[in-house]
Amino acid sequence: MTEALRAHGTVGLAVIGCGTVGRIRAVLAREYPGIGWLGLCDVDEPTLKTIADDVRADFATTDLSELLARPEVGAIIVATDERVHVEPILRSVELGVPMFIEKPLATDPVDSARVLEAIEDAGVDAVVGYTQRFRRRFQTVKQRLRDGQIGDVTTVITRAFMNRMVPEATLRKVDDTTGLTPMVVSGTHSLDMCMWLMEGRTPVEVYARSTDRTLGPIGTKDGTSGIFTMDDGVVFSMNINWALPTVWPGAVYGLEIGIVGTRGVIDVEDTHRDVILASEIGQPAGYNSRGFAPPTPRHVDFIGSYPPGDVSNGMLWGPMREETTTWFARICRGIETPHATAADGHANLINTMAMDLSARTGQPISLPISPDELIAGLTP
Ligand SMILES: NC(=O)c1ccc[n+]([C@@H]2O[C@H](COP(=O)([O-])OP(=O)(O)OC[C@H]3O[C@@H](n4cnc5c(N)ncnc54)[C@H](O)[C@@H]3O)[C@@H](O)[C@H]2O)c1
Repeated sequence: MTEALRAHGTVGLAVIGCGTVGRIRAVLAREYPGIGWLGLCDVDEPTLKTIADDVRADFATTDLSELLARPEVGAIIVATDERVHVEPILRSVELGVPMFIEKPLATDPVDSARVLEAIEDAGVDAVVGYTQRFRRRFQTVKQRLRDGQIGDVTTVITRAFMNRMVPEATLRKVDDTTGLTPMVVSGTHSLDMCMWLMEGRTPVEVYARSTDRTLGPIGTKDGTSGIFTMDDGVVFSMNINWALPTVWPGAVYGLEIGIVGTRGVIDVEDTHRDVILASEIGQPAGYNSRGFAPPTPRHVDFIGSYPPGDVSNGMLWGPMREETTTWFARICRGIETPHATAADGHANLINTMAMDLSARTGQPISLPISPDELIAGLTP
């Protein structure tokens, strides 16, 4: 239990970065009785003012130093954009309080290693936002695997399909798109899921290929297909394409995972084709970060493809609620939770970048690979 909790009976929470995801987490914090004080920081003043008013924040600033100096801060969420995680994390670590960090820890593997080292040296309980772990279906699959219900796993096959609106909404926010590949930004969620389901095994090699014909002009790749070999011989095939056309009904993410064992199989259909909307009225983008709107009309929608969940009457329903409130239970009550650790987050970045390196060199990559080797191989 933290000092702040002992002192006040509740935890004071700082949220750094209050855009799409930071807003969701801040709204949930305001609903949660164990979060007694809520402080916000965003460099964009209009964004900060709107969210501060909406959640009746106790404190709001554009200056991170001011927020971190507040004595009420007993836990921290870092929800800035992908390329801006390192500085807020390193400065927050100095407080020694529990942290929740949106993925990835960094987009540069050397920075990611530095961040992980700082977290571990400070003994901070830091978790990383891999929201899909908090779905009922995946928790159940994990338990079936724990219980040995399909024997020993031999093969895992994953296919992630994403609408190109996601890379378009993400990449338009930055001038430098280095490192913002489909595996690093989004495939990491599917990879984390599979590595978590295969817990206890370590990848020893990856071989991958990429294409960039559609999204090359905006500074990223269309997709990457790869095969990992694990230390016990399990073969894990990880495939993502995030260049599906705007009119594809899955507005954000659709996933299929097949897990084959010596005595059974688990087949997960997570493409969201179970609830379909068709309308003469054009539908919004699923990931509408900073007001992103579909570039062409979309008339069919697989409802439920937005990974955090869906908003109904102002409230978010779905895995990001479960993930966030479970973390609140962890920091307020010391409950053990299935959140990804900072070490998991770092390993996920290394493995996703190793796929990018293999695709670039055309060679299989032995794992583990050091951050320096990755950078040397991936730098143009
Ligand atoms: N777990 C999930 O399902 C999920 C879904 C979407 C995004 N994400 C992750 O969440 C993170 C945020 O994504 P988003 O969609 O909310 O982005 P966003 O662009 O909507 O919001 C980011 C906010 O951070 C602010 N910001 C930038 N630099 C800052 C700084 N130095 N200090 C304070 N504020 C700063 C921006 O002004 C913006 O308001 C990313 O890492 C993304 O990968 C996770």
